[in-house]
Amino acid sequence: MMGAGPVPISDAVARANGIVINHLGDTMAQVIEQVKTMAGYIFQTNSPWIMGVAGPGSAAMEMAVANLVWKDTRVLSICNGFFSGRLAEMARRAGGNVETLTVPEGQSIDINAAHAAIQNYNPDVITIVQGETSNTTHNHQLAQIGSLTLETDACFVVDAVCTLSTMPLHMDDWYIDAVITGGQKGLSCIPGVSLVAFSEKAWRRINARPDQLPQWTLDARLATQFWHENAYHYTAPVSGLLALHEAMRLVCHETLAGRFERHRVSSHALQRAIETLGLSLYVTPEHRLNSVIGIKLPDNLSGRDICHHISKHYRVEIAGSFGPPIVRIGQMGEQCRAHNLFRTVHALGSTFKDLKVTVDVPAGMAALESALQQPN
Ligand SMILES: Cc1ncc(COP(=O)(O)O)c(C=O)c1O
Repeated sequence: MMGAGPVPISDAVARANGIVINHLGDTMAQVIEQVKTMAGYIFQTNSPWIMGVAGPGSAAMEMAVANLVWKDTRVLSICNGFFSGRLAEMARRAGGNVETLTVPEGQSIDINAAHAAIQNYNPDVITIVQGETSNTTHNHQLAQIGSLTLETDACFVVDAVCTLSTMPLHMDDWYIDAVITGGQKGLSCIPGVSLVAFSEKAWRRINARPDQLPQWTLDARLATQFWHENAYHYTAPVSGLLALHEAMRLVCHETLAGRFERHRVSSHALQRAIETLGLSLYVTPEHRLNSVIGIKLPDNLSGRDICHHISKHYRVEIAGSFGPPIVRIGQMGEQCRAHNLFRTVHALGSTFKDLKVTVDVPAGMAALESALQQPN
């Protein structure tokens, strides 16, 4: 499971996911309190407005967007790929007037371009993705964009579905007003249970909404019934929440600093090994995402050929792409373990060799070994 998510889960998370308990009992109330406390640390926020949603990362995206956007809300969507485009589409469907700031393919947003767009458009809401999984670019200027929102009233919405707990994200210090994540990526949990954290500023905007939210299930104010009052909103996905609790406990135990370093060392070692095999990475280092790595396809091969071959012959799953000519390998959570890296580099190199592409498998394996032993 070395694709762009879902990623492998630990035995402890799998065990937790096998338990069903009362969704409104004392035990669940304690679990929810602890999930919120741990989320405060993982999102780096003191905001109390943390809540979950039964559904994929997209449900959390929609919860954030639908609660902050209504008819004629001015939305600036910074788009550098498929998932940032999805946020823009959700904002449009919520009734917003969406201005798209399109970033050239394979690049992260330029802070001057963001500044100009914010000044020109004067948005109420700004959306961005920290790690654009689709083309493996990293918007590393969230702190600067967050500071720009101080000059305005805009709420800053960040999709951290693939990045949360793999790299720094400081919700409060970076003036982020909504952070979205799913379970199945950085947190190394199951898909289907997702989280959103709203800042106090976002919560004021939600409370000032002039109309009623059309989506009942995604209504953040209704969700506080379960997330803050131990009362019924809808039947919570109890097994998934227990799995999420365990996955977050493991993050806290490892510490964010330790986890970021494991991801950095693992991803850099994998990148070096892939280049030493003789393959090219899609994005240049200054714009490159560490959580998902994009490898350029040789002219005569499709992503489907490669994914099919590596799965069938080496039992390693990697991902194709939503557009660009790449295949993608994930570096999130349990994927960032040495045994997974060795198996993946061997399988990838052997696949290209089987498909008649010239690669140097022993050199790639040696580069991996040395990068893991002497991380820089
Ligand atoms: C950055 C990003 N945002 C949002 C999503 C959507 O998550 P889901 O597929 O769980 O709805 C994904 C999924 O790959 C993603 O990578």
